[in-house]
Amino acid sequence: MEEEISRRNFLRGVGASAVAGALAKAAAAAQSVESLDDQKPVGPEPEKLVLRVNGSKYEVEVEPRVTLLDVLRNRLQLTGAKEVCDRATCGACTVLLNGQPVYSCMKLAMEVQTQEITTIEGLGTPNNLTPIQRAFVECDAMMCGYCTPGFVMSLTALFSAKSNPTVEEIKKACSGNLCRCGTYPHIFKAAQRVAESGQSTT
Ligand code: FES
Ligand code: FES
Repeated sequence: MEEEISRRNFLRGVGASAVAGALAKAAAAAQSVESLDDQKPVGPEPEKLVLRVNGSKYEVEVEPRVTLLDVLRNRLQLTGAKEVCDRATCGACTVLLNGQPVYSCMKLAMEVQTQEITTIEGLGTPNNLTPIQRAFVECDAMMCGYCTPGFVMSLTALFSAKSNPTVEEIKKACSGNLCRCGTYPHIFKAAQRVAESGQSTT
């Protein structure tokens, strides 16, 4: 009997703590819903945004649904990043966000306002190419050229992190970029040339 009572007490105790836990979770959920109520919704109307691109600040007014790629190409006339698949498969739209390569077709402009954005226009100039850009020219690493800015951006990020990457590291860095013309051997040769020269990308 004594054993039965203590088992009952035990079960009561477990039930009480389960109820207390559920109540605490319900209270936390209610609080988070209240805090959402306090937040100002954005859109669908255009919002003012400030983007930092290639060392300059740009103010644009766009709907929150607009992608970074769209703003770069159609508002800022920075057309180096290409729109090819528009669904995160080809890498033609690659830019750097705080030095890291990203697909700009998959980023909303409004979510990258605090970050440093670098596009191909922010690297070398025709008269002063970066080593990786020069190596692409010297190794004939392009045909139609549509994929080229994306590859250059991905490799620029790689060489910023490591000046002498291995072939495997070069291929891995380019794994998010597609070249439909099939210039991969020349692209990898260009990257290897830079790696062997020990030059930095800037
Ligand atoms: S256009 Fe962005 S990944 Fe293809
Ligand atoms: S050079 Fe044409 S897609 Fe790569």
